[in-house]
Amino acid sequence: MTKTVLAALVLVFATCTTAQAAGDAGAGEEKSMACQGCHGADGNSPAGIWPSLAGQAEKYLVKQIEDFKSGVRKNETMESMVAELSSEDIADISAYFAKQKATASGINDDEGLITLGKKIYKGGNHDSRLMACAGCHGPNAEGNGPANFPRLGGQQAEYLLMQMEAFSSGARTNDMNGMMKNIATRMSQKEMEAVSAYLATLSQ
Ligand code: HEC
Ligand code: HEC
Repeated sequence: MTKTVLAALVLVFATCTTAQAAGDAGAGEEKSMACQGCHGADGNSPAGIWPSLAGQAEKYLVKQIEDFKSGVRKNETMESMVAELSSEDIADISAYFAKQKATASGINDDEGLITLGKKIYKGGNHDSRLMACAGCHGPNAEGNGPANFPRLGGQQAEYLLMQMEAFSSGARTNDMNGMMKNIATRMSQKEMEAVSAYLATLSQ
């Protein structure tokens, strides 16, 4: 008897903590109408300058939206888009996009470029002491939710390139411990373009 009660209590507690941590994807679908125009109804963006959000970890999406809101990550369009969102809205919208499936955003028929991109992604570059991207972003660029390393697979190539340039120039500084600045400043323009082209071809 006592055991059953205890088990029930543990279950209730576990359910409560999960419910608090995660947003409601159903509510998020409705709340994200204004976002879908640029980021795509299913989170797969139709244009190179707009990032796809589909299949991105919920925790990463919440962090980025909060960073735009506080101005830690600077972008005028996004700052105004998220200014009025509550914490609950942010959680719900993030849950909705996290639940969608990421598709490949681009096919590039420059085989040499894709091969170089894959090589850098999987193995880095010994000469410039560039770490392999896969070490953090995952073998198939699926990301690492708990560690807050974003999915890159399927992302728009143009957006990926813009972000690497932004980390390198110091225009984007919301990466913990300058992790991505350290990476991006070791990369040549050609390497950035190659990795971006390779990543765009991947899907979930
Ligand atoms: C007018 C087009 C537009 C609309 C509408 C829009 N966004 Fe964005 N969003 C962008 C652009 C452009 C960026 C890239 C900003 C940059 O370069 O840093 C972006 C970036 C983001 C990112 C960061 C993605 C990543 O991979 O780091 C998130 C999250 C995001 N938007 C969420 C939203 C949400 C939530 C809404 C709706 C409330 C929204 N956006 C509406 C254009 C838009
Ligand atoms: C030590 C871990 C680590 C390694 C290695 C690493 N990254 Fe990252 N990367 C991060 C983190 C953390 C972020 C998210 C920063 C934030 O919170 O905004 C990120 C973000 C990014 C973004 C922005 C994604 C978006 O949606 O806006 C791109 C692009 C990126 N990384 C590309 C790469 C590439 C290409 C490599 C390999 C050459 C690489 N990263 C290696 C940790 C890493």
